[in-house]
Amino acid sequence: MKDLALDIRVEKTQNSRLSEVDFNNIPFGKIMADHMFVADYSDGKWHDLRVVPYDNFQLGPATSSLHYGQAIFEGLKGFRNAQNPDEILVFRPEENARRMNVSAERICMATLPEEIFMQGLHKLLEVDRDWVPDTEDSSLYIRPFMFATDNFLGMRPSETYTFAIITAPAGKYYSKALKVKVEKEFSRTSPGGTGYAKVAGNYAASLLPAKLAAEQGYDQLLWTDAKEHKYIEESGTMNVMFDIDGTFVTAPTIPVEDTILRSVTRLTVIELLQDMGKKVEERHISVEEVISSIKNGKLRGAFGIGTAVTIAPFATIAEDGIDYDLPTDYTFSLELKAKFQGIQKGELEDTK
Ligand code: COI
Repeated sequence: MKDLALDIRVEKTQNSRLSEVDFNNIPFGKIMADHMFVADYSDGKWHDLRVVPYDNFQLGPATSSLHYGQAIFEGLKGFRNAQNPDEILVFRPEENARRMNVSAERICMATLPEEIFMQGLHKLLEVDRDWVPDTEDSSLYIRPFMFATDNFLGMRPSETYTFAIITAPAGKYYSKALKVKVEKEFSRTSPGGTGYAKVAGNYAASLLPAKLAAEQGYDQLLWTDAKEHKYIEESGTMNVMFDIDGTFVTAPTIPVEDTILRSVTRLTVIELLQDMGKKVEERHISVEEVISSIKNGKLRGAFGIGTAVTIAPFATIAEDGIDYDLPTDYTFSLELKAKFQGIQKGELEDTK
């Protein structure tokens, strides 16, 4: 059954910034499109659904998300259909709508009916369709997010929220293969924590260790489990996959582990690999196994997986001050990325 059309007010900008954008040179996340979708929650209901010009929010200094971190977000991408450039394609957005509610529930926020997410996104893309790039390796990065808005310093779940979607045309996230360092001191999250949810605080916790690693010349971290720092969990803001002798190994998500983000891209990559007849194992993988696989030549390649990056190959993995270089002739991760982007752009059929 088709959802009934929601009442979404549209107010278009009189001052489009579109002509100022150089679509051949778009840094990630710096230039936002002309409009945003916004909805507010109070008295147990979402209301005032609107597409309005991109602008600042008015927030009181006591806004609770600024103090206690009730803030969540999603990331997805829009592309022009390769066969019909007038059509904008967004890859499995309902999965993001669902995951956002998983995050909301974890930190006691209001959940958002899926049709508000979907119809808000649809209306926003209709208005800002000219912002979707069609240059090589580019897309419209879509950022839905929700934050608590009670002006109240007492410690309890907020009773009011704002949900919004902003978008930003984006080129490549990384321009080279990454040098990643196995992190054994800091943790991104811990069992019983919020690692499986896309909660703003997870990203704040990762900033200092990432900064320290960057000072040592590493692009990203390989996060290990908080208890023993023995098993690899994620890399930077990405899930991670290792190609060990043709078997693709990635850390398990809930219900096995609650520390790993269940990314839509990760699930899609698993499906794609299985479709290609590859063996995939969702299991714990130790640092020791990865390093010994590099030493004995079994590790063919490794890569990060996420919406913003799609697939980001690793060049080097460092453990305890030693850099281990990965094979430089590994091209499979790029093939996989091209296949995934082919699906996102409607050139290839989706696996699902
Ligand atoms: C995404 O891949 O959408 C992310 O969450 C990365 C973001 C922190 C830039």
